[in-house]
Amino acid sequence: MALEIRIAKGGDATAIAHVHVESWRAAYQGLMPSEFLASLSVEDRIVFWERCLLDTPPTTFVALDRGNVVGWASCGPSRDDDGAGTGELMAINIRPSHWRSGVGRQLFNVVKKELAAFPILTLWVVQGNARAIQFYSAMGCHPDGATKSIRIANFEVSELRMRRRTT
Ligand SMILES: CC(C)(COP(=O)(O)OP(=O)(O)OC[C@H]1O[C@@H](n2cnc3c(N)ncnc32)[C@H](O)[C@@H]1OP(=O)(O)O)[C@@H](O)C(=O)NCCC(=O)NCCS
Repeated sequence: MALEIRIAKGGDATAIAHVHVESWRAAYQGLMPSEFLASLSVEDRIVFWERCLLDTPPTTFVALDRGNVVGWASCGPSRDDDGAGTGELMAINIRPSHWRSGVGRQLFNVVKKELAAFPILTLWVVQGNARAIQFYSAMGCHPDGATKSIRIANFEVSELRMRRRTT
């Protein structure tokens, strides 16, 4: 696969939103209520991404396969209370059709480089998202003991934090 990775532009909002919804529906089956996953709206996500892409941070990268967005990742300074001087991978989502093709690895490496001014990068992952935890472990990250519960719509999920050095 000839993958191109570049910083996302305003015109990528629709493609990013499609990958976002498709990826969540596949990844969080069994981890989040099915009614919630069915209710995810590409139109709402487009509005979100059109706004989000105007701001920096976060910086969002897209991965393109033959011109089509097949994955994206957002990163910036950590938003955690104890995260001073730490970079954060806020989210990474790959189209399910392209899972396990190395797209995540290439995006992760670009994010790691982007965050190189910080000695450490952290990320939060939903507990039970075994695919993502295995991916992050393969990327050299390990749980650092921090956990939190976040509210999404009308339910809560538990997340754990993972980290690695950026060098
Ligand atoms: C997690 C995710 C980003 C991984 O991206 P990907 O492009 O599929 O991962 P890669 O193909 O680059 O995999 C790199 C390495 O991670 C590990 N890995 C990835 N998926 C794995 C799986 N399902 N099982 C075990 N190891 C896995 C492997 O070591 C793999 O290397 P290998 O294929 O040479 O063995 C992708 O599955 C995804 O978008 N999931 C849904 C959204 C999500 O959960 N995002 C993370 C939370 S925000």
